[in-house]
Amino acid sequence: MIIEPKVRGFICTTAHPAGCRENVANQIAYTKEQSKLSHSYKSPKKALIIGSSTGYGLASRISLAYTYQTSTLGVMYEKEAAGNRTATAGWYNTAAFESFANDDGLYAQTINGDAFSKEIKEETIAKIKRDLGKVDMVIYSLAAPRRTVADGTTYTSVLKATSDTFESKSIDLRHNTISEASIPTATEEEIASTIKVMGGEDWAEWIEALVAGDALEEGAITVAYSYIGPELTYPIYKEGTIGHAKEHLHQTAALLTENYASHDIHAYVSVNKALVTQSSAAIPVVPLYISLLYKVQKELGTHEGCIEQVCRMFAQKLLIETPEVDGQGLIRLDDYELDSEVQEKIKALWEEVTTENITDIADIDGYWDDFYTMFGFGIAGVDYSDDIDASVAVPSI
Ligand code: NAI
Repeated sequence: MIIEPKVRGFICTTAHPAGCRENVANQIAYTKEQSKLSHSYKSPKKALIIGSSTGYGLASRISLAYTYQTSTLGVMYEKEAAGNRTATAGWYNTAAFESFANDDGLYAQTINGDAFSKEIKEETIAKIKRDLGKVDMVIYSLAAPRRTVADGTTYTSVLKATSDTFESKSIDLRHNTISEASIPTATEEEIASTIKVMGGEDWAEWIEALVAGDALEEGAITVAYSYIGPELTYPIYKEGTIGHAKEHLHQTAALLTENYASHDIHAYVSVNKALVTQSSAAIPVVPLYISLLYKVQKELGTHEGCIEQVCRMFAQKLLIETPEVDGQGLIRLDDYELDSEVQEKIKALWEEVTTENITDIADIDGYWDDFYTMFGFGIAGVDYSDDIDASVAVPSI
């Protein structure tokens, strides 16, 4: 079939297998170039990546495999193609990653299912024991709208403010127009639910299950991803429902390191840069901030995507003799984003931006390029007029 993008609000309901493959190939090529420059103190041998198919998790998988030759087991929640529906981008990315890795003699297998569930944890641990023995690195990169826990209760995460209703400029992504967004205040129950989904509880359950199943090496490292952002977005992010969940994640890192000291396990949170991913596009106000951030950072030459961020994290912040953390124990990959020059410029542009000037003062094209790229569209070297088979197998599934 000929596959075209079908955009509905902040998601694209189609994905292009050849475009996704190219996207993965580009990230591998970048990683290989970088790996010539980096001399790491430690090299993870076997990694479990939870949330491995898109965004930061996929970049982590690629960076580990192609810098350190790490064997990678991924966990994702994606859909294969059916009838005239394409597979999800994460499915195609994973099919491509596994086939490249297999060709390059690297172990790469994937489990598709709900990472929050006991069943998928058990299946994953059984697979680790069968194929790898133990893992020495666990990346936790889930971004999910809901979580069902063992007793069957489903919690839903919401993106709301927590003190006052937050009125802010925002971008209407359907028309690229500036509008006024009013973000309501969450109830206590909504805050608690968001913490259940995006906080650290499930991360801790994974580590507990891996240790209990004797599938985690002594001295293993685990990393989860977080975001803080500038004051401009505090009401919707840092101080919003999601920020409460991230705070819980940060506390979980400290608890995990403490609780598993006898196994010498070290848990870190890496605070990353705001980037266009399927998850961030859903957060009100943030897409406008991202398009201004891209504009300013591209002009200053400090713009990075997921793969650049993650390669830098492993080589320069984490896998060095003493990992580089701030006063709160957090790895800061948002250092360039939060640079005062960058933020001063964004503040000024934020005041100025209107529907009329948005294409001039914000990198709205860069935003949309990244958006389409995520789904495998608009990628150089791909012929989109080709009649292509949407059914692509993930070798290990
Ligand atoms: P993403 O949407 O690109 O990736 C999410 C991953 O989780 C995918 O692999 C998906 O298949 C998997 N997943 C979702 N629900 C699942 C489930 N129930 N079971 C198994 N797998 C599931 O998200 P992104 O943006 O890469 O986010 C990953 C982490 O990075 C999140 O914790 C996010 O808060 C954090 N982060 C994101 C930033 C951004 O600007 N995008 C900035 C800083 C941190």
